[in-house]
Amino acid sequence: MDDLHRLQEPRTASPFEMSFILISQVKELLFRMVHLEAAEARERLREDRSGAACRALARTVRNQRALTGCWESLNAMPVDEFLHFRDSLGTASGTQSAMYRLLEFTLGNRDRAVVRPDDLAAFPELRAELERPSLYDEVLRHLARSGLPVPEHLTDRDPAARYEPDEGMEKVWMAVHRDPDGHRAAYDLAEHLLEVAYQFSHWRATHLLVVERMLGGKRGSAGTDGAPWLRAINEHRFFPELWTMRSLL
Ligand code: HEM
Repeated sequence: MDDLHRLQEPRTASPFEMSFILISQVKELLFRMVHLEAAEARERLREDRSGAACRALARTVRNQRALTGCWESLNAMPVDEFLHFRDSLGTASGTQSAMYRLLEFTLGNRDRAVVRPDDLAAFPELRAELERPSLYDEVLRHLARSGLPVPEHLTDRDPAARYEPDEGMEKVWMAVHRDPDGHRAAYDLAEHLLEVAYQFSHWRATHLLVVERMLGGKRGSAGTDGAPWLRAINEHRFFPELWTMRSLL
C-alpha cells in the first residue's frame, strides 16, 4: 500500500491534478480486473463450460460498472481547474494504456490502426494476445462444437485479423433468439455477452461526454481532433451480430 501511495507525482500544486492522477490509476487497475474476468470466461468456453463462462462474464460486468462509475468523480472537476494543469500532461493520453488495448484485443476488437507500433514492441503481452483467439472467437468455436451452424471461415479464421461482421453468424444468433428455450445455454451466453458489450460502449460514451465537458472542441493530448475521434470510436460494437440481428428479428 505504501508503494501504491508513492506512485502519484503531480507537476502542479492543483489538488485537482492529484484527483485526476488517482482516478486514472484506479481506472487502470479496473481495466485489469475486467481483463482478468473476461480472460477467465474465455478459458471456460475453451472447456465448453458455458455456465462458468457466464458467471465470469457477470463478474466482468460488475467491474465494468465500477469503471464507468469512476467518471462521476472526474465530472466533479470544474473545467477551469482542469485547464490549470492540463498543459502539464504534455502528450500523455489514455491511448497509451496497454492494459486498455489488451482488454480490447481480448474481447475481440483487434483494429491495429489504433495501436501504436511502439506499444506492440514495448508490451509483448499485446503481441502475444493477437496470436490467441479472442473471447468472441472462443464463443464462436464453442457454439460450433455445441452443434450450431457457425460458418467454418469464422471458426478457423486468423485470430490476429480484424473481425468482420458476418451474415451467417447473424443468422445463427437469430435462430437462438427465435427459440430461446431450444437454445437455453447459447441464449444465456448471448445475454451475458451483450451486457459486456453494452457496458463497454457505455464507458466509451461517458468518456466522450466528459471530454466534451472538459475540452469542448479542442484537440486531444495524443494529437487527435478529440471529441470527433472519440465519437467515431463510439460507433464500434463488440460481438457485432448480437446487435445487428435485432433489426431482423
Ligand atoms: C478530463 C479527463 C479526460 C479527457 C479530457 C480525455 C480526453 C481524451 C481524448 C481527447 C482522447 C483521444 C486521444 C487523444 O488525442 O488524446 C482520449 C482517449 C482515451 N482516453 Fe481519455 N480523457 C480523459 C480522461 C481519461 C481517463 C481518466 C481515462 C482512464 C484511465 C482515459 C482513457 C482513455 C483511453 C483508454 C483512450 C483511448 C480510447 C481508444 O483508443 O479507444 N481518459 N481521451
